[in-house]
Amino acid sequence: MTGTNTPTPRLRAEDLTLSYDRRTVADHLGVAIPDRSFTVIIGPNACGKSTLLKALARMLKPRAGQVYLDGAALSSYRSREVARRIGLLPQTSTAPGGITVGDLVARGRYPHQGMLRQWSAEDETAVVEAMRQTGVLELADRPVDDLSGGQRQRVWLSMVLAQQTSLLLLDEPTTFLDIAHQVDVLDLCAELHARKGHTVVAVLHDLNQACRYATHLIVMRPGGTIAAQGAPADVMTADLVEDVFGLPCRIIDDPETGTPLMVPVAPKRFAPEDPEGGAPATDAVMAERR
Ligand SMILES: Nc1ncnc2c1ncn2[C@@H]1O[C@H](COP(=O)(O)OP(=O)(O)OP(=O)(O)O)[C@@H](O)[C@H]1O
Ligand SMILES: [Mg+2]
Repeated sequence: MTGTNTPTPRLRAEDLTLSYDRRTVADHLGVAIPDRSFTVIIGPNACGKSTLLKALARMLKPRAGQVYLDGAALSSYRSREVARRIGLLPQTSTAPGGITVGDLVARGRYPHQGMLRQWSAEDETAVVEAMRQTGVLELADRPVDDLSGGQRQRVWLSMVLAQQTSLLLLDEPTTFLDIAHQVDVLDLCAELHARKGHTVVAVLHDLNQACRYATHLIVMRPGGTIAAQGAPADVMTADLVEDVFGLPCRIIDDPETGTPLMVPVAPKRFAPEDPEGGAPATDAVMAERR
């Protein structure tokens, strides 16, 4: 214990070993997701972000260690109870063949139904509201198979929203989306966090979007270890980006928000023209090629 009055967060993991058969992805991994935060996880491909998210949603059983939800071991919950508290958008999903958008989103209501509790007006409202929030309401009768990648991604997100959980784990929710829809989805996450007090955890690859939206940033490095965590302004440095991604960069202030903005260092061929009036670097490269 730290000795402070910080309450124990609803969702945390202690000393996790995560593996697939013999391949260990992470060892001694611990994370605490601050309640009511918008936590963003960043890190290079294959470092274990999706694996961690799966463990936090009980889609993957840790080889060792424990995930805790609301003070009890996650493994001690019934599946339906986990699904009432945690919504997971996996990185990839396959829809049952021929299913319509409306029917797929309605599946998000399963955890709320049971023998004695059939489809209700409340379920209908939740489904319509979830489709409205992601802009797919007009697609309700279309088969999911016929949609574009970006439309499909928003349908999957609707299904998670229809679940109406106060903890949302979203693995790359902006994949396949054009830039305007990326901003829409991130604004929606920010709203769920700010207005409704939901705890949102999202894996993102765009470091600048991560810094804009995250109240808490978790930076993973290859080997499934945590390189840094905290507020983006405290965490995001050029040294960290170079260390974790091997990318030389500069960090400047985002002119819109003041949050850290990562600008990769340009290779020489993109360097601006020589102020002395010499040939631009690109011309030099072309000349060399000739
Ligand atoms: N089902 C699986 N079976 C075996 N190995 C897996 C499986 N899923 C992932 N892995 C391996 O585990 C490691 C971590 O994968 P994970 O999907 O967690 O990475 P990630 O950080 O989410 O990467 P990305 O940014 O590409 O989504 C990788 O080496 C990957 O090859
Ligand atoms: Mg992943």
